[in-house]
Amino acid sequence: MGFVTQRMCSILVTFFLIFFSCLCVANSEQYHSNNLKLRKQSQVTSCNVYEGTWVFDNSYPLYNSSNCPKLRKEFDCQKYGRPDSLYLKYRWQPKQCDIPRFDGPDFLRRFKGKNIMYVGDSISYNQMQSLVCLLHAAVPDSNITAVKGSLYYNTTFQDYGVSIILFESHYLVDIEVEAIGRVLKLDSMKNGNIWKDMDVLVFTNWLWWYRRGPKQPWDYIEDGGKVLKDMDRMDAFRKALKTWGRWVDTYVDPGKTKVLFQGINPTHYDGIDWNNPRAINCTNETTPLNGSTYPKGLPEAEYVVRDALSTIKKPVHFFDIATLSQLRKDAHPGHYNYDKGLDCTHWCLAGLPDTWNQLLYIALTN
Ligand SMILES: *[C@@H]1O[C@H](CO)[C@@H](O)[C@H](O)[C@H]1NC(C)=O
Ligand SMILES: *[C@@H]1O[C@H](CO)[C@@H](O)[C@H](O)[C@H]1NC(C)=O
Ligand SMILES: *[C@@H]1O[C@H](CO)[C@@H](O)[C@H](O)[C@H]1NC(C)=O
Ligand SMILES: *[C@@H]1O[C@H](CO)[C@@H](O)[C@H](O)[C@H]1NC(C)=O
Ligand SMILES: *[C@@H]1O[C@H](CO)[C@@H](O)[C@H](O)[C@H]1NC(C)=O
Ligand SMILES: *[C@@H]1O[C@H](CO)[C@@H](O)[C@H](O)[C@H]1NC(C)=O
Repeated sequence: MGFVTQRMCSILVTFFLIFFSCLCVANSEQYHSNNLKLRKQSQVTSCNVYEGTWVFDNSYPLYNSSNCPKLRKEFDCQKYGRPDSLYLKYRWQPKQCDIPRFDGPDFLRRFKGKNIMYVGDSISYNQMQSLVCLLHAAVPDSNITAVKGSLYYNTTFQDYGVSIILFESHYLVDIEVEAIGRVLKLDSMKNGNIWKDMDVLVFTNWLWWYRRGPKQPWDYIEDGGKVLKDMDRMDAFRKALKTWGRWVDTYVDPGKTKVLFQGINPTHYDGIDWNNPRAINCTNETTPLNGSTYPKGLPEAEYVVRDALSTIKKPVHFFDIATLSQLRKDAHPGHYNYDKGLDCTHWCLAGLPDTWNQLLYIALTN
């Protein structure tokens, strides 16, 4: 009996040894692969994708602009004679991680039935057209409808139910015509009633705040019930952003709507800013700056935006594209547009806004 017990025992011990060691191996393998997955995920989630450098990549651009539906003539640099094409061949490389390439079919699947709205000035227009070009390049045969209403411009990929919308708003806050003239109202944002029903909102603002003379679309400015002829423009911008922040905290439902606010759009009108005193403007620039910092540093308005966002309680993603865009002194139309006027403010398409939308895709899917 002693013998049998011993034998049984040793079989049992062997069995348990094998069983547990298998369990252990399995566990450690699972642990290992979970760990890897976690590491990869946290690499993109904890990585600052807005910090990095531009690298040459011959697989770019992501589309041929001559195929883009309804591309605005301000952005179609190749069509208007831009002789160089190296500027089309740069990919954004974050310092701490790799980012996925823009995946149009995946984007359309994920955002089925959704309204994605860009709110802002012509930079929003630039960016909206980039996304339409990117998605169209992914599904060139799908049915697109474009409807220009009085308030916004709605492009829909009918087969996917995805709408890409531009809402032009130069100041975010309202301009109203009153007896004394056109009044810019720093405390009023009525269009928010339309914005709050969207699924994704990407805000851009800044370009119009320093306009004066005939290009200024208002006569008076109203601040806290007082009507003024003018005021410090940076203060006015700060107050408008405060109004915007209050709107987010009061009306946005974070369960429905994802809100992003874009950093300041840089311009390139003085080569001293990028250590090239010979450059009067952006026209002769054909390559990005090396490295990941811009000699002049960030525009002052960028700090105003950051301050405003830091006081908002609801989740808002700071879409931090200022520095990576500053490095692209080569990516503006320059004189290569329909009227040969100088433009070192907007961006050629294909081009930089495609990277913004690639980063938008990452911000929305992570
Ligand atoms: C873009 O498409 C146009 C028209 O089909 C063509 O003439 C041009 O060569 C294409 N450009 C590139 C870079 O492939
Ligand atoms: C495209 O979609 C519109 C609106 O749904 C529809 O009227 C039209 O017939 C469609 N065209 C094609 C070619 O499917
Ligand atoms: C845009 O157009 C599509 C298709 O007509 C529609 O379903 C969607 O609601 C529109 N979006 C807005 C914000 O009007
Ligand atoms: C921009 O720079 C180019 C090249 O230096 C020059 O020929 C052009 O006149 C400049 N344009 C303006 C409006 O200053
Ligand atoms: C800009 O480029 C044009 C055409 O290549 C050239 O004639 C001109 O000298 C350049 N200007 C400067 C300031 O580099
Ligand atoms: C930028 O980097 C490239 C590639 O490393 C190099 O060929 C080029 O000379 C650099 N340009 C400047 C202005 O440092």
